Amino acid sequence: MKDYKRSHMEERIARQYEEVVYRAGSYDDMLWQWEQGILWRELDWLKKEIPNVSMLDFAAGTGRILAFLEDKVGLAVGIDNAEAMLARARACVKKAELICADITESDVLIGKQFDYITAFRFFLNAEPDLRDAAFQALVPKLRDERSVFIFNIHGNLWSHRLFSKLWYRMRGRRLNTMTVRQVRQLVRRHGLEVVRWCGFGVKPKIFYRIFGARFMFAIDSLLAQIPWMKYISYNLIFVCRRTHKTP
Ligand SMILES: C[S@@+](CC[C@H](N)C(=O)[O-])C[C@H]1O[C@@H](n2cnc3c(N)ncnc32)[C@H](O)[C@@H]1O
Repeated sequence: MKDYKRSHMEERIARQYEEVVYRAGSYDDMLWQWEQGILWRELDWLKKEIPNVSMLDFAAGTGRILAFLEDKVGLAVGIDNAEAMLARARACVKKAELICADITESDVLIGKQFDYITAFRFFLNAEPDLRDAAFQALVPKLRDERSVFIFNIHGNLWSHRLFSKLWYRMRGRRLNTMTVRQVRQLVRRHGLEVVRWCGFGVKPKIFYRIFGARFMFAIDSLLAQIPWMKYISYNLIFVCRRTHKTP
C-alpha cells in the first residue's frame, strides 16, 4: 500500500470490503463477532462511570462499529476520508453523524471531545507517519483520564500471520505485522497507556474454510479464554487511556 489515506476511495474497494471481506461467515466476520463482545464490554464498564457516553469512530469505513454501538451511546460521530465507504455507512447507520474528512489534515472536530474513541483496522496498514498523525489528532479528542481509546491490530506478528508473512516475503511481497511491544511504544509516544488488551484467532484462517467457520469460531472463542493465548492471537484489541493531561 503506497498511500493508505487513499486506499479506500474507490467504490470497487468499498463494495469488496462489505461483500467479500465482511461476507457472512468469512474469517473477518468471525473476528467481528468477537470484537462486538469486547466493544460492548468496554462500553458497559465506561457507562458505569459516564452514563451518557459520546463516541467517535475514526476511519469509520462502512459503519459497522457505529451501527453496532450508536443506540448504546448518547452521541455517535464517525469520520472517514473515503466517500465511497461512508456512502455504505449512511445506508446502515441510523443516528450517528458521519463526516467525510481527513482529521490528520484539518481539525473538523474542533472543540469536540469524546469518552470513547474507536479506530479499527486502521493502524496496522497505515504508514508510520500516518499512525503518528492520527494519534496526534485523536488523543486531544479524549475528554479526560476516564476516556478510552480502543483500536485493533489485525496482524500480530507472533500469530499465524508470521507464516503468511514469510510466504509473502518468499514471493517478494510485503505483509504488515505489528507486535504488542511496538504498539505499546507507539501509544506511549502519544501520551497513552495500554490499560487492557486481548486477542482472538489462534487457528489459521484456512482452518475456518476446511473445518467450518462456526466450529472454528467456537474453538477460538474457548482458546481466547486462556489468558496467555492472546500473545499468539492474530487479532489484538488494545484499550488505552491518557497517561497525562494533553495540552
Ligand atoms: C480497512 S478500513 C476500516 C473501516 C472500519 N474502521 C472497519 O473496521 O470496518 C480503513 C478506513 O480508514 C480510512 N482512512 C484511511 N486514512 C484515513 C484518514 N487519514 N482519515 C480518515 N479515514 C482514513 C479509509 O478510508 C478506510 O475507510
